[in-house]
Amino acid sequence: IPTLKEAFEGKFLLGTALHVDHTNGVRKQSADLVEQQYNSIVAENCMKPEEIHPSKGVYNFKEADQFVEYGEKNNMFIVGHTLVWHSQVPDWFFLDDEGNTVSREQLIERMRDHIHTVVGRYKGRVQAWDVVNEAIDDKEGLRKSKWHQIIGEDFIELAFQFAHEADPDAELYYNDYSLILPHRRAEAVKLVKNLIDKGIRVDGIGMQAHYGIDYVKIPEFEKSITDFASLGVKVMLTELDISVLPFPTEEISAEISQKYALVPEFDPYTSTLPDSMQAKLAQNYVDLFKVLLKYQEKIGRVTFWGVNDAHTWRNNWPIEGRTDHPLLFDRNNQPKKAYHAVLELA
Ligand code: XIL
Repeated sequence: IPTLKEAFEGKFLLGTALHVDHTNGVRKQSADLVEQQYNSIVAENCMKPEEIHPSKGVYNFKEADQFVEYGEKNNMFIVGHTLVWHSQVPDWFFLDDEGNTVSREQLIERMRDHIHTVVGRYKGRVQAWDVVNEAIDDKEGLRKSKWHQIIGEDFIELAFQFAHEADPDAELYYNDYSLILPHRRAEAVKLVKNLIDKGIRVDGIGMQAHYGIDYVKIPEFEKSITDFASLGVKVMLTELDISVLPFPTEEISAEISQKYALVPEFDPYTSTLPDSMQAKLAQNYVDLFKVLLKYQEKIGRVTFWGVNDAHTWRNNWPIEGRTDHPLLFDRNNQPKKAYHAVLELA
């Protein structure tokens, strides 16, 4: 049977996020799986500002270099993640030597230096960048991040301009979560349309796609894909995973989510997923992939956020220390029912 990348060949790229242990030889078995199944990779953490640019004037390229070399060796489409984000960015960016908030001009200069240095180092080697991540507010408008507060709304277009200057051939993306919610979808359309109207290069919109069982309303998912595609940019799922555990909401407290699973017979602290949940997870993936295939000429790439259930960030988010099962491969790198169900569709 074909692997994921083979089955979806000519439709869209299939990718996964890599941890440093995949490229330094520690998770050898997982790396073998990555090489069989995927033709695109993204760095889970090692290219984020706190890792690659931890203090002023200090860059740490060791892990990012390894990541890029691994992708080149395996002929993969390499995505850099991420240049401008409110999270995992060290405070020094926003403070001067006296500990006061920097001026707009100073922060623009720091942003320019960061983007030129990082994108410039991998020019022609990293094919695409998540330039700005999560700039949309949960209630309305843009998030009041430090970037936004200090520079103003144009921090977004500046980031895209700097990335384009640093590598004119790289594809440049806007990336965000919950883009199937109507108000967040509308904001993303506005944001990207503004870039396009100003003649700024933007190649795609990344829908993170950190979902949960039965969370996605398919018509909303479809509408986001078609609305984004009608801007003339690629649409991608960039961080796909489907948690099988309850998500704490205003109605369901974190404490309850911590204790209970979605079905009574399932203990959220067990490392095997019951058949009923395997089937549910598979069906959720099938529902998404049917839509992705329907719009395959608009979809550039589908990237999973992690290789197997053992190391997925969903074991620790939104609640620390649970045992989640959101991916296509289990804790022993064995394909799950969801894997076979997705392959069958292609
Ligand atoms: C997550 C990583 O998976 C974790 O290892 C890290 O501790 C926190 O960040 N949205 C993003 C990703 O764009 O960068 C995040 O990755 C998950 C949410």
